Amino acid sequence: MIKVNRIVYASFETPDLEGQIDHYTRVMGLTLVDRDADAAYLSTSGDHHTVVLRKGSAARCDALGFQLPPGTDLGDYDRQIRAHGLETSRRRDAQPNISDALLFADDTGTRVEAFVEAEGAGVGFQRAGISPNKLGHVAFNSTDVQKTVKFYCDVLGFKVSDWMGDFFAFLRCGPDHHTINLVQGERNKMHHIAFELRDWTHIRDACDLLAQDRIPLVWGPVRHGIGHNLSTYHRNADDQIIELFCELDRVNEDLEVYEPRRVHQEFPQKGKVWEDIALAANMWGTPPPEGFLD
Ligand SMILES: [Fe+2]
Repeated sequence: MIKVNRIVYASFETPDLEGQIDHYTRVMGLTLVDRDADAAYLSTSGDHHTVVLRKGSAARCDALGFQLPPGTDLGDYDRQIRAHGLETSRRRDAQPNISDALLFADDTGTRVEAFVEAEGAGVGFQRAGISPNKLGHVAFNSTDVQKTVKFYCDVLGFKVSDWMGDFFAFLRCGPDHHTINLVQGERNKMHHIAFELRDWTHIRDACDLLAQDRIPLVWGPVRHGIGHNLSTYHRNADDQIIELFCELDRVNEDLEVYEPRRVHQEFPQKGKVWEDIALAANMWGTPPPEGFLD
C-alpha cells in the first residue's frame, strides 16, 4: 500500500482574502510567495506553500495537500485509490510548484491533493511575526468520526495514535503523534489548524505578539494529555481556530512506543483509548471553553 508521507499544505476559501493574508503574513509570520487572480500562496519556510487562500463565499478548509513517498508512480496510486470505489482526477500544473497531482475527496468532502514532487520556494523563515517551524496538523469535525477514521487509515495509510473516548481520534502519517485529528461533530468542517513552534519560549513570544494585536487566546496555555504537547488557541480573521504547539510526542514506528518524556503517564507510553477525558484534554486542569469541540 502506498501511504501519504507528510502533510504539506491546507487550502482555504475565505470571504475576507485580505484579512486572512494579513493574519497569515503579519501575525503568523508566513511569507506570501505567489499570488494570482485566483489564489494566494503562503509559506512557513522551505515548501513553496503551507497555506493556500482563495476568495469564497464562506470560510472553509476545502483541501489538504499530501506528499507521497519519493519514486511513487502516480498512476499506480490512482489505481490504488480507485480500488476503494473513489472518483479521482489527475491535475497537471494546477499549482505554481506542483506539475502533477491526484485529486479525490475524503468521506466528509474535503479534497485530498496528493503529489510526489513539488518545487520549494526556498524563502526561509520570516524574521517578523510568529514564524512557526511548520504546519503540524489539521483537525476536523466529522458527523461520523468512525467512518472518517477508517477512510484516513484504509485509503491514505494513517495510523491511530490515541483515542479520546470514542469521539476524538488522533492520527499519524509519520513520526509526529498526530497530523490529522477527527472529532465527532454536528457537521463536517475544519475544527482547527495547528502550527509547530520551536519551544515554550516561542509560545510565550507568540502570545505577546498576539496581545499586541489584541487577539485573545480562546484556550490555553495547556499541556494536553494526548500528544503531551503544550498549546495555545486563538482565532484568525475568519474566526477559525489556530493552535500553536510544541513538544508534541514523537512515535517510534517500529516499536509503536512514544519517545520517553517526563510528563508521560505510562512508561513506556503507547497508543490507547483515554477514558479520563479531563486529563486527556489538559493535564494542567483548565477545561476547554464551552462548545470548543463543536
Ligand atoms: Fe490540535
